[in-house]
Amino acid sequence: MNRVLIAGATGYLGGYIAKELVKLSYPVRALVRNPEKLKQNKIEVTEIVQSEITRPDSIKDCCKNIDVVISTVGITRQKEGLTYMDVDYQANMNLLQEAKKHGVKKFIYISVLNGENLRDLKICEAKELFVKQLIESGLDYCIIRPNGFFSDMTEFYKMATKGRVYLFGDGELKTNPIHGEDLAAVCIEAIQKPDQEIKVGGPETLSHNEIATVAFDALGIKPKITHIPNWVRVVTLKIVRLFTGSKVYGPIEFFMTVMAMDMVAPEYGRHTLREYFTNLNQVNR
Ligand SMILES: NC(=O)c1ccc[n+]([C@@H]2O[C@H](COP(=O)([O-])OP(=O)(O)OC[C@H]3O[C@@H](n4cnc5c(N)ncnc54)[C@H](OP(=O)(O)O)[C@@H]3O)[C@@H](O)[C@H]2O)c1
Repeated sequence: MNRVLIAGATGYLGGYIAKELVKLSYPVRALVRNPEKLKQNKIEVTEIVQSEITRPDSIKDCCKNIDVVISTVGITRQKEGLTYMDVDYQANMNLLQEAKKHGVKKFIYISVLNGENLRDLKICEAKELFVKQLIESGLDYCIIRPNGFFSDMTEFYKMATKGRVYLFGDGELKTNPIHGEDLAAVCIEAIQKPDQEIKVGGPETLSHNEIATVAFDALGIKPKITHIPNWVRVVTLKIVRLFTGSKVYGPIEFFMTVMAMDMVAPEYGRHTLREYFTNLNQVNR
């Protein structure tokens, strides 16, 4: 059985991957900075290595006796004054160096759908620079390119709970977000598969209007959607880029860019947004 190191197990996707690996009886080493988070999420891996992946000295020999590394490490909601280059690129580079040093057989990395075409965005610039280094590393690798996660669709739900969802343009752009559990299965299957790149989204391709409507339905409220003209998005993006630093505008520019294009990947999985929003509604009751 391949021995797997997972970096990012305290996050949304990494948590699902770690749980599934354990369920499938893989020996799992989790590289985390806060083991308490694993406990809270009831993730019981074979071995926990507490370290700071951003500091190479702290992860020394973390890949010893490891066959496969899976990294979901990246900045999503963390606000710690670090840049995408510090984390999405450099922290993963630190891990890649360790993987090479210890003869790891395969490195599986989570980038983002269309990342290779969106390198002008700070997050994609950092992720794709790491992808390039991984490809050139000489290790066997797989780049997973997922569509947006259900965890991010919570924003639609939150707006719906306040009675109105705001969308850019006419709301007819389409996307197929994916649940962490479905995506975790894809990441784990990649251990055995020869594919070097996997693009993947959830089982339903929906317009933004349809996603908003599903959120209202889950709440049992009549849908109220306001469409914001696209020029507002363009001007707002210019202003935030001009008047804030990349740590502030990075996540905003990514969100505002992907909300203005169709984001559709090959459909996979079984979890639906209706089920996800309904669960949120039950938990929040
Ligand atoms: N969310 C989406 O819609 C989406 C879509 C496509 C691709 N992705 C990519 O998929 C990956 C996983 O996303 P996710 O939603 O699961 O993210 P998440 O829940 O924020 O998890 C990210 C993981 O990275 C770790 N991390 C972040 N900054 C760190 C730092 N400075 N030092 C050490 N560890 C750090 C986090 O550790 P802590 O728990 O200690 O903070 C966490 O374990 C990310 O690379 C993301 O860019 C996300």
